[in-house]
Amino acid sequence: MEEAPKVFGYTREELLKLDPMVLRAIIRERAHHTIEVFLYRILAGKMKPPRDFGGVVRYLLEIWRERGLPMDAPDLQWAERMLRIAEAVERGETPKLETKPPESFTEEEMEVVEKLLYGRRSIRQWSPKPIPDEMIRMILKAGLMAPHGCNLCATRFLVLRDPEDQRLVQSDIPIENGVMIVVCQDMRIYRALGFDKAVPQNIYYDAAAAADHMLLMAHALGLGGVWLTHGKETERRLRERFDLPDYIETRCHIVVGWPAEAPIKPQRMKLDEVILEVS
Ligand SMILES: Cc1cc2nc3c(=O)[nH]c(=O)nc-3n(C[C@H](O)[C@H](O)[C@H](O)COP(=O)(O)O)c2cc1C
Repeated sequence: MEEAPKVFGYTREELLKLDPMVLRAIIRERAHHTIEVFLYRILAGKMKPPRDFGGVVRYLLEIWRERGLPMDAPDLQWAERMLRIAEAVERGETPKLETKPPESFTEEEMEVVEKLLYGRRSIRQWSPKPIPDEMIRMILKAGLMAPHGCNLCATRFLVLRDPEDQRLVQSDIPIENGVMIVVCQDMRIYRALGFDKAVPQNIYYDAAAAADHMLLMAHALGLGGVWLTHGKETERRLRERFDLPDYIETRCHIVVGWPAEAPIKPQRMKLDEVILEVS
């Protein structure tokens, strides 16, 4: 009998015991790097499927199921869908994806996009009007949907509504009447895959993309927000206050709330000044 392959150095026995959060990240990453990145080129007739297309995802999902872990989460369902399509390709079929390529926005929609992208500005004073939980959830969802390296989905959020807790976070501006969202990361995921060594820059890019997406959603909701930076002392205090495990690291935070100021949008340089070359 052929020996089961190691995945990121993990034997089958180790995968059967691996923390589910890490195993799930490996499933997402493998579905991304062994199926997704090839699939659409294969379907376009530009390359042949690799040998045993989808095999490692099938193996990992079997382990997931064998452990009795639930399959209902959207990321796992996506991995399963990738696998089914890869299997169809292996059988020589041309699966129908029932998806459409992105389309240009209408003029009206573009106005909304411009309002979103060019109208956002940092807001640093907030009025005491309550911020509905639903709005915070919409903002967090925007953070969750941001691009992230290797489909790892290691970004986590700490929502601080309590002013006492907010004071634990070092800031160069006074924070009043806002909700603070601390962007954190589950470092088990990067470490277990060795990506903290292979692509350490992604750790910061992931956090940045999430923060930016959230600020844009806040802007669309009529809330004003600002991106703020903090250091290791803040991380230490938050770890102590919330009993955060050592594998959760904090990166940056944003504060959102009902605007109590209307700043003049800081203007950028001229577009042509920032374009180094166009080849
Ligand atoms: C990485 C990063 C760190 C930032 N840190 C702070 C900060 O510590 N304090 C602050 O008031 N604003 C901070 N900001 C917000 C910037 O000052 C602001 O985005 C910039 O001046 C442009 O203004 P605008 O957001 O209104 O377009 C930060 C933004 C980024 C992206």
